[in-house]
Amino acid sequence: MCGITGYAGRREAAPLLVEALRKLEYRGYDSAGIAVLDDMQQLAVCKAKGRLDALEERLGGAPPPGTLGIGHTRWATHGEPSDLNSHPHTDFHGEIAVVHNGIIENYERLKRWLESRGAVFQSDTDTEVIAHLISYYYHADAVQKETPLLAAVLAALDRLEGSYALAVIAAGDASRIVAARKDSPLIIGLGNGEQFLASDVPALLEHTREVVFLEDNEAAVLYRDHVELYSREGERLTRAPVHIDWDAEAAEKGGYPHFMLKEIYEQPRALAATLRSHLQNAKTPGGGEGGLAAAFEDERVDALLAAAPRVVFTACGTAWHAALVGKYLFERLARVPVEVETASEYRYRDPVLNAGDLVIVISQSGETADTLAAARLVQKRGAALLAVTNVVGSTLAREAGVTLYTRAGPEIAVASTKAFTTQLMSLCLLALRAAVLRGTLAPSEAAALLAALEAIPGQAEETLARAESIQRLAARQFNKNKVFFMGRQFDYAAALESALKLKEISYTHSEAFAAGELKHGPIALLDAGTLVVTFATQRALFDKIASNIREVASRGASSLIITWEGEGEAAFSSLGGELFSLPKTHDYFSPLLSVIPAQLFAYFCAVQHGNDPDRPRNLAKSVTVE
Ligand code: M6R
Repeated sequence: MCGITGYAGRREAAPLLVEALRKLEYRGYDSAGIAVLDDMQQLAVCKAKGRLDALEERLGGAPPPGTLGIGHTRWATHGEPSDLNSHPHTDFHGEIAVVHNGIIENYERLKRWLESRGAVFQSDTDTEVIAHLISYYYHADAVQKETPLLAAVLAALDRLEGSYALAVIAAGDASRIVAARKDSPLIIGLGNGEQFLASDVPALLEHTREVVFLEDNEAAVLYRDHVELYSREGERLTRAPVHIDWDAEAAEKGGYPHFMLKEIYEQPRALAATLRSHLQNAKTPGGGEGGLAAAFEDERVDALLAAAPRVVFTACGTAWHAALVGKYLFERLARVPVEVETASEYRYRDPVLNAGDLVIVISQSGETADTLAAARLVQKRGAALLAVTNVVGSTLAREAGVTLYTRAGPEIAVASTKAFTTQLMSLCLLALRAAVLRGTLAPSEAAALLAALEAIPGQAEETLARAESIQRLAARQFNKNKVFFMGRQFDYAAALESALKLKEISYTHSEAFAAGELKHGPIALLDAGTLVVTFATQRALFDKIASNIREVASRGASSLIITWEGEGEAAFSSLGGELFSLPKTHDYFSPLLSVIPAQLFAYFCAVQHGNDPDRPRNLAKSVTVE
């Protein structure tokens, strides 16, 4: 996620902005930049692709003078990481400078509108429309002349759809920074004769502990000696500052003890952002053609989905588990033959691939060596390649040509959580769209499924609210010498992912198997020292899975059943063991919710063992070598 900083005071702004950006490095970024206003009210912008060191090198030891400015670290969402796509972005006159965190969903429409009025765009970003739009209103006659920058920003906000945290400065007005937010954090630090702005508390702590958290749909104007808060309608607001007493490290994690827990809790927002991003072109979400009339940011996706006689998924680790869910979804919804391949195996096989085949390659990082090798093999064989990745500008994204981005934001903990569920969300939408295009699903059925997906972010929130029971379970069960996860169909994929999470960070021996396989071997291992976690969400198979749970209980193993509230509770509560209830959704979408308690269980077990869940032994976040 991008980082924003701002400074209005009496000290030189540039070094303070860069220093504050360093405190936001943990958020992940691929480029950085600053804009400063000097005594003559002239705007100087400096930005560079890469780490902050690259920006400092470009500043060349002589940062632009001036005591008011804004800064940014960018995590690319639209347009690859490059100097041009870095923030701050300026308008056509080079007068307005903007830094932005979030996604502007209607930027293409706005861009066309602005171009028709003479704006010339320099970058591929969604953010640049904001600079041009503010400039448009800044020069409009109707704008309030007393605080023209604030008035222009508020007018521009009325046109923006999506999420944003913004900081804006204007040449010729070195007295203020205008800031605004919706669905993206922004915090104001109150100093003595100087005011600070940042997207997270750590960037402020060195200077002040008195902060004001900007709320959604609010704006602020930072002057050197004071700060004014405004509603979206331009009315003045007042709010008492909050005193922050966190230590700096805790602040980086937003108050969570570990990044992994923070990322688990970020899932509702990440899921909503992924859904919104893929549907941003849909004219009537929830309506027409199953609401997927023009889904997906890249129009070429449709052609791939409509034509492929066969689909192959390939990936590693957690992404491979997402691929398995993808297989079930595509088969059920689009009635197309699907194979799932582990990339490390696939790359060394001599797979049968035909020209029309569609290969979907999934990778959070877009840098996993085996996954890249598999993608290159596919391209060499002339099959169509669609990449699903979280990192804009990653090697996979660059090489694939057609790429669909998950919008999880940077994932820092080694154990993947929000990347997995956003991959699932993307695959659900892809499968739905394929079904609509291939005529295997009636538009009304597709619309009902889309509505179910739109409810998932809220249901993920509800699931997280039930975390306490999982924490208590982990406190009792973390010392089990083996933990098994089982399920059928979609639940089998959830079981595989859950076993991986637990072994990665708690170092407990854990395995997953399709519940029907229990009798074919794993049952021999069951004893009182075993915990078996059963996913029981496939309604048509309730009776089958109930038999498996009984087999577990009769071997003396402990049992946790993850199922639907209401109907699942009624079906399984008499079978012994503990129950974790999920908000109800369609069977096909169950892994989006059912892995959440399993992620929490792995996390709490790791903590009970005294392990650092963010940095598990022997593992790397990105496996860039074989
Ligand atoms: O970046 P990728 O999605 O390509 O990474 C693939 C695996 O290395 C990754 O999912 C790994 O299994 C995680 N540590 C799982 O938590």
